[in-house]
Amino acid sequence: MIAPEDLLAAARAARAHAHAPYSGFAVGAAVRGASGRVYAGCNVENAAYPQGLCAESVAIGACVAAGETEIVEALVVADSPAPTTPCGACRQRLREFAADEAPIHAADADGVRATYPLGSLLPHSFGPSHFSPASRKASP
Ligand code: THU
Repeated sequence: MIAPEDLLAAARAARAHAHAPYSGFAVGAAVRGASGRVYAGCNVENAAYPQGLCAESVAIGACVAAGETEIVEALVVADSPAPTTPCGACRQRLREFAADEAPIHAADADGVRATYPLGSLLPHSFGPSHFSPASRKASP
């Protein structure tokens, strides 16, 4: 896999703006839409801790707000001993817009350290395909 330099650069730039005064753990993320465009985000913590947002959430939101609902690749960058992979909730958020085969890169200051298909991070997942037309009825 060729290192996704544009994703890495975008995620690093966003990470520089991380609002992480409580954990001190700055994270940047970037996702690539089907168009090829890249959308980035950083973690945005909150004094009411559970209200904080992960970097992936912010990047996915930017992607969807721009009108793209297919994510073909994603990257997370942080400074941690083991490469930072998306948290469980963000794996599910990615699952909404990305296929099992979509590569998810984990990077640190040295660059991409590991790459995993989304399906390996969230096996046997629940997603949009579980809704059959019948199950979408307003009242069961
Ligand atoms: N965090 C992310 O933004 N993405 C991840 O993949 C892992 C964790 C954030 C949440 C919180 O602001 C900080 O890192 C420490 O958990």
